[in-house]
Amino acid sequence: MGKPKIFATKPLFPSVRKMLEQHVDAEYWSEPERIPRAELLDRVARKDGLICLPTDRIDAELLDAGRQLRIVATASVGYDHVDLDACTKRGVLVTNTPGVLTDTTADLAWGLLMAVARRIVEGDAWTRSGTWNGLAFDTFLGADVWGKTLGIIGFGRIGREMARRALGFKMRVIYSSQNRAPEAVEKQLRAEYMPFDTVLREADFVSLHVPLLASTRHLISAESLAKMKPTAYLINTTRGPVVDEAALVHALETARIAGAALDVYEQEPKVHPGLVARKDVVLAPHIGSATIETRTKMAQVAADNIAAFFSGRTPPNALNAPAA
Ligand code: DGY
Repeated sequence: MGKPKIFATKPLFPSVRKMLEQHVDAEYWSEPERIPRAELLDRVARKDGLICLPTDRIDAELLDAGRQLRIVATASVGYDHVDLDACTKRGVLVTNTPGVLTDTTADLAWGLLMAVARRIVEGDAWTRSGTWNGLAFDTFLGADVWGKTLGIIGFGRIGREMARRALGFKMRVIYSSQNRAPEAVEKQLRAEYMPFDTVLREADFVSLHVPLLASTRHLISAESLAKMKPTAYLINTTRGPVVDEAALVHALETARIAGAALDVYEQEPKVHPGLVARKDVVLAPHIGSATIETRTKMAQVAADNIAAFFSGRTPPNALNAPAA
C-alpha cells in the first residue's frame, strides 16, 4: 500500500516538506497567488489529507469534492474558516497550530498600538515626503502609551502576552474574557478582570484577542464604540468581523475614538475605503504571525499533526473527535 496522499495550499518550507514526505505523498500549490477555489476543489479529490490556511474555506462543498479526506490541518491558530461540524459529521479530523504564534502576534499587536499612538506611520510618510522642515514643538503630537490603561478583550494566550508587554510600559491592565483567569495569572500580569463595558469605558487602548465566533461577530459595534473614551484607540489583530468596520469608520469620522490600528478586516483582502483614507488609522496586511521563525513553526506543527495522524497517533492539536 502506498503512502497517504495530501495536498497543501502553500509549499510550506523545505525542512517541513522533508519531514512531511517521510510520512505522506505531498502535492503543493506553489503559485504566488492564492489557490483559486475551483483548483482547490479539484486538488482535494482523491487526497487523504489537506494542509490549508485561513484563506481556504473548508465547508460541505470542499468535503464533497474531497470525499477521501480524513484530516484537515490548518496552518493557523484561528479556525473560523473551517466548518468544524461538517468535518466532524463526515469523520474528518481538524487540527490547528496553537501556541507557536502567541508571542509573535502579541508583538505585532504591540507594534500597532505604538504605531498609532505615536503616529509612526504618518510620520514616516511625512519624513519621506521631502516637506519636513525640521523638528517642530507642536506637530505630530501623539498620545503617551506608558502609564495608561490597556483594556484587553479576550484573555487567552495572546491577550495575556499583550498584558505582559504592558508591564514594561508601567500600564494598568484591565481585561474582560469569557472565563476569568486564575488568580496567579492575574497577579503575575497585574491584570484586573472587569465587565466588557467597564473595560471599554476605562481603557485608553482596547486590544481585541477573542476568536471569531457567532457570539463575537461585531462585538465591537456602534454601541460598544460609543462607550469608549474619545481619546482611546482600538487595536485588532484577531479577526476582522469582530469589528463592525462601517461603525468603526463612523466612530473615527465623528471623533468618537482617537484612532485604530488593524491587522485584519471584515472582507479580506478588501479594506473599507473609509479606513484607507484616514491618517489616524494604521493598517497592516494580516501579518500577526508573519515572521520567518513563526511561520516555519506553524508549518511544522501542521505537518506534525498530519504525520501523527497517518502514523496512527492522536495529533497533538485535534479540534474535534470525529466518529471513525
Ligand atoms: C492565525 O493563525 O489564525 C492567523 O490569523 C494566521 O496567521
